[in-house]
Amino acid sequence: MQYSEKVMDHFTHPRNVGEIDNADGVGTVGNAKCGDIMRIYLDVDENDVIVDVKFKTFGCGAAIATSSMATELIKGKTIWEALEITNAVVVEALEGLPPVKVHCSVLADDAIKMAIADYLKRNGREVPFDIPADDDDDHHGTEDED
Ligand code: FES
Repeated sequence: MQYSEKVMDHFTHPRNVGEIDNADGVGTVGNAKCGDIMRIYLDVDENDVIVDVKFKTFGCGAAIATSSMATELIKGKTIWEALEITNAVVVEALEGLPPVKVHCSVLADDAIKMAIADYLKRNGREVPFDIPADDDDDHHGTEDED
């Protein structure tokens, strides 16, 4: 299966890579399927607008491309608008991903949700949505043989 031009563009020239010092919210998730990790940093202003966003990942090319696209889509939006941008929206914006790579796209989505939840909690506010788990229960073949 071929990657779309958009995926290749965001993979080879990823947007918003890096860290934000003193970020207003940080979210880190691991992907149980491959063990890869994603961290999202958010700068949010007093109107809940995401003024800056950066990501760091140990993920594959598809994870890099989806994070790059996801961060582009949420920048300048309120946290509430950002929550509406699901990984399906991101995958569509990238003109599709091979089915075996869709789990990679979930990383950015979950890390963004966690970073928004972190921002709300730091401000003593309620988190009115489910916070994704740091891992899913879908662990296979990793039992310790000791
Ligand atoms: Fe791990 Fe894609 S294979 S994020």
